Amino acid sequence: MSAVATEPTEPTEPTGSTGSTGSTGSTIPQVRGLPVLGSLPELARDPAAFFVRCYREHGPVFRIRLPGRSLVVLAGPELARYMGSREGQASLGMGTLYDGLTEELGATRSVIAMDGPEHKRLREVMRRGYSREGLKGRLDDLVAITDRRLDAEWRPGTTVPVVDTMQLLVIDQLGTLLTGHAPLDYIDDIRTAVSTMLKVHLAKVRPTVMLRLPGYRRARAQLRALGDGLLRDHRAPADGVAPRLIDDLVAAHRSDPELLPRRDMLTALTGPYVAGLDTVSNTLGSLLYLVLKHPDVLARVRAEADAVFAADHLDDDVLDRLPSVQGAVNETLRLYPIAVSQPRVALRDLEYAGHRIRQGEQVHCAVAVPHFLAEFFPEPMTVDIDRFGDERREHARPGAYSPFGRGPHTCLGKGIADVQMTLTAARIFHRLDLELPSPDYVLRRKAAPAPGPAASFAVRVAGRRV
Ligand code: HEM
Repeated sequence: MSAVATEPTEPTEPTGSTGSTGSTGSTIPQVRGLPVLGSLPELARDPAAFFVRCYREHGPVFRIRLPGRSLVVLAGPELARYMGSREGQASLGMGTLYDGLTEELGATRSVIAMDGPEHKRLREVMRRGYSREGLKGRLDDLVAITDRRLDAEWRPGTTVPVVDTMQLLVIDQLGTLLTGHAPLDYIDDIRTAVSTMLKVHLAKVRPTVMLRLPGYRRARAQLRALGDGLLRDHRAPADGVAPRLIDDLVAAHRSDPELLPRRDMLTALTGPYVAGLDTVSNTLGSLLYLVLKHPDVLARVRAEADAVFAADHLDDDVLDRLPSVQGAVNETLRLYPIAVSQPRVALRDLEYAGHRIRQGEQVHCAVAVPHFLAEFFPEPMTVDIDRFGDERREHARPGAYSPFGRGPHTCLGKGIADVQMTLTAARIFHRLDLELPSPDYVLRRKAAPAPGPAASFAVRVAGRRV
C-alpha cells in the first residue's frame, strides 16, 4: 500500500442549494452555479469531484444548470442496482441522445444509440469479438504490437507527450487485433472526427458549426473511407483461426442484413476507435502518472512484469500473475474514472430515491461517485493497489465500483480493455525507465471529450531496461 495521497481533489468550495423546484411533484435540489455559465466551470474542471460534492450536499438526486439547458443527475450506491433492474432499464435509455453522432457517420443506428431487444441482439453479435476470450492465444501479438510502438515512439532521451503517443499505441493494438489492420495513417482523422463529434453531440461543449468546418469534414470522410476499406479488404479467417470482431460483424451482416445493414457497418467497424481510443489512452496516461508518482507501486509492478516477461511465451492466464499491475489499473480507474457519468433520457416518468423525474428529461447517471466515498473505499484519496485483493475486495460491495458503467450498455470491451491495459502497463515498465517532469509534478487534467490527462502531460524516457 502507498500512503501518499493523489491529486484528485476533495470538493472544497461548497456552494449550497437553492432548493428550487424540479420535475413533477417533488423538489429536486438545484445546485447553485454562476449566472450564465451555471455549473459548467466546475464540471469542466473536475467532473468526478463536482458530482461527489453535489452528492454530499444534496443527496442522490440533484439538478445542475449549464448554458442553455439543465439536467438531472442521479448518484449514490443504489444507482448501479437501479440501472440494471427491470424498472431502471425500462425507465432510462438512450432515446435520441446519440442520433446526431450516428447520422454523422452516415449510419441509421449504432449499438450505443439503441435501446431494448434490438440493442441486446446487436450486443450479442459483438460480444465474442469484444471479449477477453477474443484475445485468447494472441497475447504475444499484443506485446509485439506494444513493442513496435515503444521502439518507434518511446526512444531513450526523448520526452514523450503521453496521451497522443498512447493513442498511437492503442489504435495499433485495437486495429490489428480486432480488424486485422492498424490504421495509423488515419490517426489524425480519427482523433479529429471522434473528438469533434463527441464534443458537439454528446458533451455539447462545442457548437454545431464545428461540423461544417472543412477539417472536420475531411476527417469524417476519411473515417468513412477507413470503414469502406476494411470491408473491401476483408478476408474470412483461415480454418482453425479464431474469428475477430470484423469476422463476426461481416458474418452477421450477411446472415441478418436487417439487424446490421451495410450502411451501419461503418459504425460497427470503427466502434473500437470511438469507444476505445480516449478511454484506454487516457486511463493508461493516468496510470503512468500514478505509478511513477509512487515508487513503492513502481517497484511491485516492475518485479511482476520482469518475472512474467522472463518467459518466451505468454499463456492466457498471465494476468493472474500480475496482481499488482491489475491493482494499479483498477486503482487508476477508480481515482481517474473516464466514465464519470452515463448520459440517459427518461423514457417515461420515473421515481428514483423519492424524486419524480419526468419523461423526456435528460439524466446523467453519476456511477463513479461511490469511488470517492469512505464508506466503500477507506481513505478514498489514497492510492492503495491492494484494495482489490482477495482479502479486502473493497470494490465488490454493491454499487461501489463501476469503472465500465452500469446497466444494459455496460462496456462491451471491458474484457479486452482490462487485458490491454494490464499487459501494456506491465510491458512499458518492464522495458522503459520513465521520469515525470519533476518529483513534485502534479498531473494536469482535462474533462472533454473524455476526462483524462491534459495534452501537455509528458514523461521523459530516461533509458531502456530491455
Ligand atoms: C478504460 C477503458 C474503457 C472504459 C473506462 C470504458 C467505459 C465504457 C462505458 C462507461 C460504457 C457505457 C457508456 C454508457 O452506458 O453510456 C462503454 C460502452 C462501450 N464500450 Fe467501453 N470503455 C473502455 C474501453 C473500451 C474498449 C477498449 C472497447 C472496444 C475495443 C470498448 C467498447 C465499448 C462498446 C462497444 C460500448 C457500447 C456498449 C453498448 O452500447 O451496449 N470500450 N464503455
